[in-house]
Amino acid sequence: MPVPSPSWWQTAVVYQVYIRSFADGSGDGIGDVQGLRQRLPYLAELGVDAIWINPWYPSPMADAGYDVADYRDIEPSYGTLDEAQAAIAEAHTLGIKVLLDIVPNHTSDQHAWFRAALSGQPQARARYHVRPGRGAGGELPPNNWQSIFGGPAWTRLPDGDWYLHLFAPGQPDLNWEHPEVRAEFEDILAFWFDRGVDGFRIDVAHGLVKKAGLPDTVSAAPGSLVESNEGHPAWDQDGVHEIYRGWRAVADRYAPERIFIAEAWVGSNERLARYLRPDELHTAFQFDFLRTPWRAEVMRAVIDDAIGAAATVGAPPTWVLSNHDVTRTVTRFARSQPEHLVGTDWERNRWADEDPDHALGRKRARAAALVQLALPGTAYVYQGEELALEEIEDLPDDVRQDPTWAQSGFTDVGRDGCRIPLPWTDTAPPYGFAAESGSATWLPQPAHWGEHSVEAQERDPDSTLNLYRAALALRRTMWRDAGDVKWLTVAPDVAAFERGGAQCWVNTGDADVALPDVATVALASAPGVDRVLPPDCAVWLHSGTPTD
Ligand code: NOJ
Repeated sequence: MPVPSPSWWQTAVVYQVYIRSFADGSGDGIGDVQGLRQRLPYLAELGVDAIWINPWYPSPMADAGYDVADYRDIEPSYGTLDEAQAAIAEAHTLGIKVLLDIVPNHTSDQHAWFRAALSGQPQARARYHVRPGRGAGGELPPNNWQSIFGGPAWTRLPDGDWYLHLFAPGQPDLNWEHPEVRAEFEDILAFWFDRGVDGFRIDVAHGLVKKAGLPDTVSAAPGSLVESNEGHPAWDQDGVHEIYRGWRAVADRYAPERIFIAEAWVGSNERLARYLRPDELHTAFQFDFLRTPWRAEVMRAVIDDAIGAAATVGAPPTWVLSNHDVTRTVTRFARSQPEHLVGTDWERNRWADEDPDHALGRKRARAAALVQLALPGTAYVYQGEELALEEIEDLPDDVRQDPTWAQSGFTDVGRDGCRIPLPWTDTAPPYGFAAESGSATWLPQPAHWGEHSVEAQERDPDSTLNLYRAALALRRTMWRDAGDVKWLTVAPDVAAFERGGAQCWVNTGDADVALPDVATVALASAPGVDRVLPPDCAVWLHSGTPTD
């Protein structure tokens, strides 16, 4: 019997559009839908299969759009619903699927439901977690939970009650035990599916259901998304799976198929696989790859673990090197490397006193991209990775926008450094991000941004942009349907695997490694690689010499 070919989402390269920083069509310094539409041909030429657009709904921007005031409309500074529909249709015409970002754990404090809750109506409050405080006068929060961004996860209302927000105070957590909450989100999914959207990335997918009674956690220390969740009564509760069975039923009403990808920072790949059972979600981000230090032995273990866990539920593994929440790959690899997986916020602060070697980080980021794109499953590329942009670590404090900065008591600089508006042209600020030269962007771009622009990289055959273009084109024939990973034993500092006759090698050590005689280099992460693989480089190999 012929093997059915995989669905697009099982092998896709998905490009993450952080819309606020992608392209600005209106000239106000903020990315928008028009800008995205103008740049869709760029994404088609890059060779991506799909885009995931970060939240584009009306929002007071307490957390860059992850505080949604209306799930069925478009943020006015980004455009209109008509423009959004046009963007979806134009992407489809170019062969690009469209994934949106759904934010079900919390709304904005400006959402109609929370406004009604503030007016004191008990039935409106029941859609959120509103509780009396502890202490004689109720002056203490109802439990000891900490916000992911720092400080208590509770804010007191004028009448003395407290409401829960695992993130910013402008992001009150919804009560998913309430039937109206469940019905409303199933309806929101259908609203966008009816407009042709191909699926959703689910924000904080592991947080919707809280342990009954909201008990204290034994580890109340604030932690990153990664570290804070194991055993914590706010995260990864079994009740969450029933919600996704309902969502899957909504998606399954549609053709062509509509899909979900979960953002769930859970304790292990085994816990993550539970979200991917056949009647739940299609895929989930496996984040260990973006926490992998530049060490072949850790990389091998992370890859095996991710593939093995996804296979237990028949889901494709997913590979993420960076996103809008973590330090950019170039900078992560630009400093000395720990022996184990790195954290996310932990990483941001720990290295502040070690100067980054961006040239080294760039070499490694390019090599890591070749590893990522050679693996089976789905790959996510965060905007700017294809330009090898680095984290901007020296933003002036007074321009920082991430709520993490203030909520951490100005100790964690937050995520603004990976969200700088993209450079499109090698000119002057805003480097083609907005049509108007000289207009200020919502986060300032550094003076050297033009060097990394699309325009500058198009001129350079060895640029990272051209490496990504070549890799995405070659991936279709060389890797997409190539089968399982078989590890090759080469050297401790080399991770090398074969899939369907092709090989990928990466050298994380500091010595050259000879490549096999009977192989041809199909693509290398650095120019001039032929018979020898230098440190911090990766290659894709075809078996056989050029004369075969
Ligand atoms: C995860 C998102 O990726 C992040 O940017 C956001 O701050 C939190 N969820 C809260 O919605």
